[in-house]
Parts: sequence; C-alpha cells; structure tokens
Amino acid sequence: MMDGYIVSKRKVAVIGAGFVGASIAYALTIRNLAREIVLIDIDREKTEGEAMDIQHGIPDLGNAVVRAGSYEDCRDCDLIIITAGRNRKPGESRLDLIAGNSGILRNVVEQMQKYYTGGVIMLVSNPVDVLVYQCTRWMGLPDGRVFGTGCALDSSRMIRLMADYTKRDTESVKINIVGEHGDSQIPIWSRAAVDGIPMQEYCEKHGLSWTQEIRDDFAGKVRGMGASIIKNKGRTHFGIATSVCYLASAVLDQRPTIASVSTVLKGEYGVSGVGLSVPSIIGVNGVERRLEEEWTEEELTLFRQAADKMKGVLDTL
Ligand SMILES: NC(=O)c1ccc[n+]([C@@H]2O[C@H](COP(=O)([O-])OP(=O)(O)OC[C@H]3O[C@@H](n4cnc5c(N)ncnc54)[C@H](O)[C@@H]3O)[C@@H](O)[C@H]2O)c1
Repeated sequence: MMDGYIVSKRKVAVIGAGFVGASIAYALTIRNLAREIVLIDIDREKTEGEAMDIQHGIPDLGNAVVRAGSYEDCRDCDLIIITAGRNRKPGESRLDLIAGNSGILRNVVEQMQKYYTGGVIMLVSNPVDVLVYQCTRWMGLPDGRVFGTGCALDSSRMIRLMADYTKRDTESVKINIVGEHGDSQIPIWSRAAVDGIPMQEYCEKHGLSWTQEIRDDFAGKVRGMGASIIKNKGRTHFGIATSVCYLASAVLDQRPTIASVSTVLKGEYGVSGVGLSVPSIIGVNGVERRLEEEWTEEELTLFRQAADKMKGVLDTL
C-alpha cells in the first residue's frame, strides 16, 4: 500500500500496438492495473514511440513501466492481450477480415507459444469469435484460459442507450448482448433491468414506452455502432480500450466479474464447438464459468441460428 494506492504486481503483454493496442496500454496505465506493460508489434519503431508517449504521463496517474518488447516478454505474463490485425474499412463486415487476421494470429501464436509460461489470453482482433476458436485450438490450454472481448463492448453500448433513454446512470442498467460480435448478435431483452426492476415494468411505472419498435431501433443502432464510428473517424479504439480494462481488472485484481465474452462453447444453450459470447464469470484464470440463464424460446432460437452461421464460417477455414 502506498498513499492509498494498491500497486499491482502484474505483468501484461499487448501484442499489436496500433490504435487499439496503444489505447489499451494507455487505459491500463491510468487505471494502475499493471506493474509492467510490454508492447509487441512488427513495427518496432512505432511501438517504441507509443511506449515512450504513454510512459511520460504524471507518475501519480499511472506508475506502470511501459516499454516496447519482443515475444520473449510473454514469459511470466499474467495477461496477454492480442490486438494485432487489420481493422475494417467503411462498408466491410468483421467477417471480411478473416483471411488476413487469421494468418496474423497464426504468426502471433507460433511466436508467443515458445515463451508462454501461463496467463490469460484475451483476444480483441476481429473477427473476434473466429479468432477465439482458432487461438483456443492452437494453444491447447484449459477451457476459458483464452477468451475474446466478444459482446462486452456491444453490451456496454446498449447500456449507454438504455441509460440515456431511462435517464438513469449506466450502473443502474443491466443487459447482455450475446452471440456474435457482429451482425447476428442478440440482446437478451427478457433479462434487461433498471435498478433491478425488469425493463418493461420499469418503463410502465415511469411513463415510458418499451415497444418492439423501440427495442428493434436500439438493437439496430448497437449492431451498426462500430460501422457508424468507422464511417465518421475511420476506426474505433477508445470504447474497446475501456472494455478491455474492465475485463483485465477481473483477471489482474482477482475481482470476479460477469460479462458477455466469447469462448468456445461446450453444450451451453445447446451449442458446442463455436466461439460466441454468453454471460460468463471472469476471474484470475480467464473465463471461469459460462452462465446458463433462462432465455425466451425466441432468444434461444436466435442464438442457435447465430451458432449455425458461425459453424458455416468455421467450415470454410
Ligand atoms: N473486439 C472489438 O470490439 C474491437 C474493437 C475495435 C477494433 N478491434 C480490432 O482490433 C484490431 C486492431 O485494430 P487497430 O485499429 O489497432 O488497427 P491498427 O492497424 O491501428 O493496428 C494493428 C497493429 O497490428 C500490427 N501487426 C500486424 N501484424 C502483426 C504481427 N504479425 N505481429 C504483431 N503485430 C502485428 C500492426 O503493425 C499494427 O500496429 C482489428 O482487427 C480491429 O478490427 C476489435
């Protein structure tokens, strides 16, 4: 303990130091979540620049050592975050990135494996559900040690919309988006709540409509949110960086957290052998348990359709 701070003893590697990787390193630093953050990228010069830039903040607002490194630095990491890979161009879907980013992931895994001594692997690169499936197979680690940010960001985008709509703070709103981090994502409306009150009941009590039309509008906005941001500014990186920090804190601070993240399913909701997001308990070992909640028949059907779509994609690899 120093001046009220708990100084983390944790080591984190961020592979891929582009917009997303650098933003994650910056967010981890100002949250004081790690003792050491190593950035690894094929562009060494740029990576050194990013590390210096992040390191030069006021010490009280982040005292981690941030440096450019190599795959050898994956030794003894508590958490390895993979962001290497190309981003979408306007008009592209995440699945259009498969060929290029799957090749990059293969290269990353081959190099990382030589030095991997343990630790949780969190995938951020897209299409994240496909890459989770591949990384899980290639690494051969215990269930849950590899997971992807999946629908965590989509869920927080929906929480923001619902908080604005109900004029409540984001912490009062609970909803999970599940399935693909992509076009076939599914909001679990049946479990949406504000202040612990089911959303439908909350809206009725507060004179707000909560019609299918409004729900479809919100779902469409969240589904298209990434594309809208890319159309406006060419990329997304701040939102995902804070989502990663939230998930990283569950691993590094040993603070179990429930979030909708992507792992390879083993029979949950009747689905196996594909990477998709479901509400999961995240802790020091990564995803420690996938929750099996009560969903409506319609939600279950949509989820199984998303799984069939994902199986079709995996069959083409
Ligand atoms: N999961 C999410 O919610 C989410 C959100 C935003 C972005 N993303 C994804 O994150 C990824 C990165 O996006 P970005 O905006 O940072 O892109 P970027 O182009 O800015 O950065 C990618 C970085 O990867 C590096 N790289 C390429 N091949 C590599 C290799 N073999 N080894 C190590 N590094 C390598 C590049 O040099 C570059 O610095 C994309 O796939 C994007 O779609 C995911």
